[in-house]
Amino acid sequence: MYAQMVDTGVDRVKSMEEMSPEEQAFQKRIDEGIRIEPKDFMPEGYRKTLIRQISQHAHSEIVGMLPEGNWVTRAPSLKRKAILLAKVQDEGGHGLYLYCAAETLGVSRDELLDALHTGKAKYSSIFNYPTLNWADIGAIGWLVDGAAIMNQVPLQRCSYGPYGRAMVRICKEESFHQRQGYDLLLAMCRGTEEQKKMAQDALNRWWWPSLMMFGPHDDQSAHSAQSMQWKIKIESNDSLRQRFVDQTVPQAEFLGLTVPDPALRWNEERGHYDFGEINWKEFFAVVKGNGPCNKERLQARVEAYEAGRWVRDAALAYAQKHESDSDRRLVA
Ligand SMILES: [Fe+2]
Ligand SMILES: [Fe+2]
Repeated sequence: MYAQMVDTGVDRVKSMEEMSPEEQAFQKRIDEGIRIEPKDFMPEGYRKTLIRQISQHAHSEIVGMLPEGNWVTRAPSLKRKAILLAKVQDEGGHGLYLYCAAETLGVSRDELLDALHTGKAKYSSIFNYPTLNWADIGAIGWLVDGAAIMNQVPLQRCSYGPYGRAMVRICKEESFHQRQGYDLLLAMCRGTEEQKKMAQDALNRWWWPSLMMFGPHDDQSAHSAQSMQWKIKIESNDSLRQRFVDQTVPQAEFLGLTVPDPALRWNEERGHYDFGEINWKEFFAVVKGNGPCNKERLQARVEAYEAGRWVRDAALAYAQKHESDSDRRLVA
């Protein structure tokens, strides 16, 4: 997902009896559905895990602007260019809400960005794949934003107030993102034979990385169990992935495209689609920094940050001047 394999620092979930009275009261509050706010007591593990999760999510939004931003100048019409610009700008906004939510946990924006730029922080594996043709922009909206919605709708009920509230607004925008992607592919699939081939090629390349976004099977993971107990993860990776497949396969059929999975078939008994196994070797290679575009993405991000330094310096100098002017007025 936009935050994958978040480390909780635990290898086993504590039972109620093993918790301190403060931790017990905290867990009880979460179990009762009462939100945790920035000034409330929270166990250190909860705070640190949330910082990791929210910042990883923020980084994914910001790095996610890169593969699509590449196509702003090459959009085939003014209408598509305006839609893509608005979408990419929304992703920047999502990153900003999320950095703000992370800052309420006592970490600074500079620390978070430094972790991203030095390669210490992770972002979603999906953004390390290249966008090779215009149909990729449709596939990203339909599949990547679609998978993001699947994960983020339940996160609106997350136990940490600022994160859950950020999700409400983000989800509204993600739904527009998904539709614009699907609409783009629909136009291509109803177009020329060549356009339809481009759409099929994009689906072939983005299908499996999209399924990887949900992360590894998590039934056995202590981190997932802990995050679910804290309600900063609401549903298991596998159940979200299944829902995504069930929702997306009929949409592919409507487009007249073929999902690139020979094992895919409807299972009447389960009431779900069965599907093939993900190439986990590829997933872990991408997460570890060896995907097709990891280096390029990080380099583009660092260059953009450095190129924007003068803007930040100017804004800071202006703010300081403004502050000292108003101090002088106060003294007078
Ligand atoms: Fe987003
Ligand atoms: Fe989006």
